Amino acid sequence: MSECNISIIVNGEQHELTVEPRTLLVSALRDELGYTGANVGCETGRCGACTVRENSKTIKSCTRLAVQADGSEIETVEGIADNGDLTTLQEQFQEQHGLQCGYCTPGMLMTADTFLRENDDPTREEIREAIEGNLCRCTGYQNIVDAIEATADQLGGQR
Ligand code: FES
Ligand code: FES
Repeated sequence: MSECNISIIVNGEQHELTVEPRTLLVSALRDELGYTGANVGCETGRCGACTVRENSKTIKSCTRLAVQADGSEIETVEGIADNGDLTTLQEQFQEQHGLQCGYCTPGMLMTADTFLRENDDPTREEIREAIEGNLCRCTGYQNIVDAIEATADQLGGQR
């Protein structure tokens, strides 16, 4: 199968890589570039473990071919920390026990971070709707909603 050269920016860093046309974006990020924050769960677009941002919008990176992302700007969970310091959202996941095994957490953080950029004073119902595409088999979601709500309260419209 002929290979394709693509160019993507990940967390502000430019990368040139060669991929097969069938290579998924999540595989390119993890296996070619070492951004292992995006996890592979279902590979069918249902679980959200692979959620990243492409050009500021969340996508499930198992539903996108790497070649489709050519020229795009990708953000992964590794890029959301502030110069290595945890963000308020990450701290609140820790404080409110919003994770157990942690498998869903990178995708959950990307979805929540993007959501809070668009809605800095959400209701709990809005938070639940925002994360409905991210499955968590451990927490029962309550603490995740608490963490997102506490982040919104703490940032109080600073975002
Ligand atoms: S691995 Fe992509 S949505 Fe489940
Ligand atoms: S913390 Fe285990 S899947 Fe969410």
